[in-house]
Formats: sequence, structure tokens, C-alpha cells
Amino acid sequence: MVRVAVVDRDSCQPKKCGHECVKYCPVNKSGKVVWIDEQLKKAVISEALCIGCGICVHKCPFEAITIVNLPDELERDCVHRYGPSGFKLYRLPILRRGKVVGILGRNALGKTTMAKILAGELVPNLCETEGKTGAEDVIRQFRGTELQTYFSELYSNKLRAVHKIQYIELIPIYLKGTVGEIVKKAGIREELVKRFGLDKLLNREVDKLSGGELQKLAVAAALSKDVDVYIFDEPATHLDVVERVKVADAIREYTQNKYVLVVEHDLTVLDFLADNIVIVYGKPGAYGIVSHPAGAREAINEYLSGYISSENMRIRDRPIKFETRPPERKSGKAARLVEWEDIYVDLGGFQLEVSSSYIARGKWWSHRPNGIGKTTFLKVLVGEVKPVK
Ligand SMILES: Nc1ncnc2c1ncn2[C@@H]1O[C@H](COP(=O)(O)OP(=O)(O)OP(=O)(O)O)[C@@H](O)[C@H]1O
Ligand code: SF4
Ligand code: SF4
Ligand SMILES: [Mg+2]
Repeated sequence: MVRVAVVDRDSCQPKKCGHECVKYCPVNKSGKVVWIDEQLKKAVISEALCIGCGICVHKCPFEAITIVNLPDELERDCVHRYGPSGFKLYRLPILRRGKVVGILGRNALGKTTMAKILAGELVPNLCETEGKTGAEDVIRQFRGTELQTYFSELYSNKLRAVHKIQYIELIPIYLKGTVGEIVKKAGIREELVKRFGLDKLLNREVDKLSGGELQKLAVAAALSKDVDVYIFDEPATHLDVVERVKVADAIREYTQNKYVLVVEHDLTVLDFLADNIVIVYGKPGAYGIVSHPAGAREAINEYLSGYISSENMRIRDRPIKFETRPPERKSGKAARLVEWEDIYVDLGGFQLEVSSSYIARGKWWSHRPNGIGKTTFLKVLVGEVKPVK
């Protein structure tokens, strides 16, 4: 077994704790086992010297440390590590021309990291956190596999890739102007503009778009590129049910005979889109392992059951079951949490009318179409947007 010691970069806060990991480690007398790295400003653990007692795991007030023993064989498959004591990603999915590969897994297991690697944006360091690992090393690492050919062609620009990023909220930071200007600049196909209803938004500034509208713009921009590899990181987020189907349909139609990777949490979208699915399992924030691929339906069923047979791996104690209706809440007389009179909002290009109503404890609100004003309404409720009435 190999000892893996990971300090979650987001959770570790040396300015707010008493450096318990450093203080209580029984073998840290010379300060060479656990220390606060001056550059990273985070705790770092030497895996070679750590004896795996687990004391630091319990003492850290922010639960930032994971110490696990993983099989030796797995170490050979380590693809990328975000620096010393950083998150570790094991294995990669294999992309095949004409097949849509789906990735399914919990948060912080390395899905976006994989998307960046397969798009050629991140050259994986093969878990060598010291020294430099380059494209040649990556190609060598995967010799004899389909990934060797893939990376050889990707790194020599024989394969061109487009990556629809996960965090579409970043788009307005980098792209200014109206939807119409962006459509023109990015060469977004007219057919997609109409199909996704973007034609009604051509005069709207991109920073005024709803989450769903931004998502459709981003997917349309990616699908309009004539490339070999299409990578979609969470293409269904922010979209209502109807729009999800529209986007999934377009992805299948526009990417035929290409390499396609889709990271998605919506099982229905994945079931519709993917030919094969890999499940990523591990410990969020610490390490992620890519399973062998399976048919979409089979992989989804295994994911729900909590047991991956090809890996002989239990990923959850209990299966996930879907109820046909939301569970009844016994809250007695429903307390009204928020009440409002008729509301009228005028944002220039967009007007919103909401009839007087209330939100009561234990009541469910239905899902409404994209761009109808849900976020604007919430902004009114918290006082961020002032209604006319
Ligand atoms: N540049 C970076 N430096 C250090 N750690 C990073 C970096 N990028 C990501 N990580 C960490 O790597 C882990 C995996 O991140 P990644 O974004 O790949 O996960 P994900 O599976 O896509 O998660 P989600 O489902 O939330 O999108 C996380 O713990 C994240 O904080
Ligand atoms: S790992 Fe925990 S105890 Fe150690 S520096 Fe980070 S937050 Fe503090
Ligand atoms: S697991 Fe034990 S030996 Fe390893 S760093 Fe933590 S306290 Fe030190
Ligand atoms: Mg992600």
C-alpha cells in the first residue's frame, strides 16, 4: 500500500488555526513531517515520513487533512497532482471518435481537472510535483494505449479541441458587449441561435443574461466550432427541463463522428447523451479514481446502487432511491416565511410581474422556464432589485 496524505487547499487555513497538525504530529520533532509551506501558505505533509497515525486528521479544526493507504498498483496510474499534499487524480477516461463519453461523480473528485487535461489546457504532471513534466512524458506514460495516440495528436495540433467551461458565470468577466456582438464575433451558427432562442436576446448585454441564457450561449459557441474534440463541463446546469433536452439534442446532432466528453450531474441528460460512462469515485478534495467505462444505463444503475462491480468498489453505504413525490412534511400549520403584494419590476429590456402570494414552510415551489425572472424575483425579495411597484 502507498500512503497518500492530502491537505485540502480550500479548507486549510493556517491563519485561523493553531497549527494543530504541526504541533500534535508525534514524529514531527524536526519539523520535516508536517509544516506550513511559505509559498503555498498551507500545510504540507511528507508522505515518506508520515507514519499514518491519523492524529493530525482529528486535530485539524477545519477537517482539511486526509490520510489514506491506496494500493501500490494505483500509484502507477496517477495522472495529476495539484502540488505537494494536493488533490490526486488517478486514471483518465478514453475518448473514441464517434462516441460520447460521460463522466459521473460527486463534487471535487477531479472531473473538471480531467476535462482540462483532455482539452489540452492542462498538461498533467503525472503526480511529479517536483521537477518538470512535459507533453513528451505524458505521451510516454500512456504508451501502448489509445491515450498515447490521443495525446500525441492533441499536443501536435492534429486534434483541435473546444471546452465549454463549467463556470459560465465567468463569461461576462471576459466577454463584453451584446449577445448579437458575441454571436458575430464567436461565429455562432444562425441555426443554433434560433434553436436556443438566442435570437430574442441579440440586443441584451451579456452581463444581464440569466444563468440558463448564458449556458445556451456557451454551448452554442462551442458547437459552432469545427473541431475534433468537444468537451462539455456541466452543460445542463441552470437549464430547465425543456432546455436541457434541447441542448442535449443539439450536442448529439452537432458532434457526430467526433471525440466527445460530457461531465454532468443530471442522470437523465447523461443517459440520453452518453454512449459510455465512467464513474469517478474517491474522497472529495483528496483523490479521485476513474472507473472502467460501462454502457450508459449500466453505469447509471451502478452509480445509484452505490457499488461499481468492475472495480469491486462500494462508493456509498446505501442505494439512491427516487420518490415519486416529495416527502410530506409534518410542520403543522404552515408558517408564512415571506409574503408580498403584487410586484412589478422594470429592468429596461425585461419586465416582471408577480402576483401577491407567500412562501410557507414546507411548501415546494415548481420549476419555471429559463429567463422568466426567477433570479430577479429573488433579488426583489432580498432588496437587491427595487421594484416599480
Ligand atoms: N489549480 C488548483 N490548485 C489546487 N487544487 C485544485 C486546483 N484546481 C482544482 N483543485 C482541487 O482539485 C479537486 C478536484 O477539482 P475539480 O474541479 O477537478 O473537481 P470536480 O469533480 O470538477 O468538482 P465539481 O463537481 O464541484 O465541479 C478539488 O479539491 C479542487 O479544490
Ligand atoms: S491542516 Fe488544519 S491544522 Fe494544519 S494548518 Fe491547515 S487548518 Fe491548520
Ligand atoms: S498522520 Fe500522524 S504522522 Fe502523519 S502527519 Fe498526521 S500526525 Fe503526523
Ligand atoms: Mg467541475
